[in-house]
Amino acid sequence: MTRKAFVTGGNRGIGLAIAKGLADQGLDVWIGSRDLDAGHQAADPIGVRAVQLDLEDKRSISEAIGRIGALDVLVNNAGVLFEDRFLGAPSAFETSMRVMVEAPYDLINGLAPGMIERGFGRIVNVSSGWGAFSEGLGGPGAYGIAKAALNALTLKVSKELPRTVKINAMCPGWVRTRMGGAGATRSPEEGADTAIWLAMLPENGPTGGFFRDRKAIDW
Ligand SMILES: NC(=O)c1ccc[n+]([C@@H]2O[C@H](COP(=O)([O-])OP(=O)(O)OC[C@H]3O[C@@H](n4cnc5c(N)ncnc54)[C@H](OP(=O)(O)O)[C@@H]3O)[C@@H](O)[C@H]2O)c1
Repeated sequence: MTRKAFVTGGNRGIGLAIAKGLADQGLDVWIGSRDLDAGHQAADPIGVRAVQLDLEDKRSISEAIGRIGALDVLVNNAGVLFEDRFLGAPSAFETSMRVMVEAPYDLINGLAPGMIERGFGRIVNVSSGWGAFSEGLGGPGAYGIAKAALNALTLKVSKELPRTVKINAMCPGWVRTRMGGAGATRSPEEGADTAIWLAMLPENGPTGGFFRDRKAIDW
């Protein structure tokens, strides 16, 4: 049976590398893209499908869920990084929380019941070391707060899911994308590796963890 996967923010960067990696493993992959034309341009060459998805718009999220149908693998990859200071920048704070915390919650909430019913699911939350208390909540503005909240969401949700539906968070390292910049140390493919591994976990694999380079790290 072909598993179906959905990768948010899949039109470029790490998300595109995750989508390609999952397609290479034989999954039927959909990418979510704010701009559907950009989504198709990214999806067509790697043999995956695109759906319009703006994570700041709840209706766009529910329409994408309806369009894709039953899903086995969800990768909450999309992210935003504002350079603004934290205090005095409420709109950057709201957008960060919306895109990297509330929207992943909405997607998990919409898709996990079907995974539970079918007895299989893998949910991967693309987080960051900047969201780890153990690494000092680095990064500018609200970014670390949103990623710490995404980590908390991962841990809490794992306690409500059966072992058949696994949810884990991961840090891709510092990756050469629009967000990471040209000077970053890792390629998008290297950044995608742990997310792909978590998306393909076997039945006895971990859940409720935080990983980098396929190894557990502290929250
Ligand atoms: N690069 C790094 O060094 C690094 C390090 C640690 C963690 N991460 C995390 O890795 C993930 C991917 O980052 P990246 O480096 O690949 O960044 P990127 O190249 O900037 O790509 C970000 C993706 O998120 C999408 N996105 C942003 N806001 C959205 C919204 N409202 N609705 C739907 N999609 C939205 C973007 O879509 P558009 O094309 O429409 O803007 C784009 O596809 C993020 O969660 C990031 O926080 C990255």
